[in-house]
Amino acid sequence: MTVSLGVPQSDVDSVLALAVSPPSVAIVLGSGLSGLADVAADSRSMPYADLKGFPAVGNVVGHAGRLVTGSLGDTPVLMFQGRVHQYQGSSAWEAAYPARLAAAVGCETLIVTNAAGGVSFDLHTGDIVLISDHMNLMGTNPLTGWPGPDGGNPFIPMRDAYDPDLREIARVAAAEENLTLADGVYAGLLGPCYETPAEVAYLRGVGADIVGMSTVPEVIAARALGLRVLGFSLVTNAAAGEGLSHSEVLEAGRVAADDLSRLMIAILRKL
Ligand code: HPA
Repeated sequence: MTVSLGVPQSDVDSVLALAVSPPSVAIVLGSGLSGLADVAADSRSMPYADLKGFPAVGNVVGHAGRLVTGSLGDTPVLMFQGRVHQYQGSSAWEAAYPARLAAAVGCETLIVTNAAGGVSFDLHTGDIVLISDHMNLMGTNPLTGWPGPDGGNPFIPMRDAYDPDLREIARVAAAEENLTLADGVYAGLLGPCYETPAEVAYLRGVGADIVGMSTVPEVIAARALGLRVLGFSLVTNAAAGEGLSHSEVLEAGRVAADDLSRLMIAILRKL
């Protein structure tokens, strides 16, 4: 199993040695959402650079390169502060390393979060979206060349990739926390440039609600490795909005990040 995940045993050993309890849930924290790691109990961290198999993470503002173990809502978690992005030149397989590592250390669930542009006219800055499905428009796939879990069958079903039971738990938790949760389809594009207005109109036409440059490779790999997946986008801007800048995306992320952190802890308490 470890061989087909492409995760060195030393990385598995490092994570399990770091964690006070073996993690059951992995959480990828997107732009501006790193704060969740600060409220974990028994938290311990290590830089990605200390893990042999972790692809080099480029230096983009707002993306730390750190792994944090700890406990949230009494659930042992493995958190990734910062992603491997394909727009920095990584392959889709490399971008999926957090998912592959999560599977290799025995996590059963992957929660992905990201900052995204709002494509639907119903979404606004600060909205939290429960991802119901995605469109892989990145032009790549983390599973190309992968032989499949038992060799010879790489054809992974992607229906209900975002687990319906977990989504229901998220909706109940949001209601209890008095948080409004929109539902939406995430379109993953390669980046790093933002979309043109014509591209955003196209995305709206084909049924996307939010757009971003991450998440898709991790989710595909997670499903291939049998992890259950839950995903959230924080709408940081209207896609192709006027004067769109990375610093605005980060600032909008900070404002609504507390709500998303609260929601996440409420969900973890129910798992
Ligand atoms: N487009 C793509 N990725 C993004 C955006 C956007 O508008 N906002 C945050 N990440």
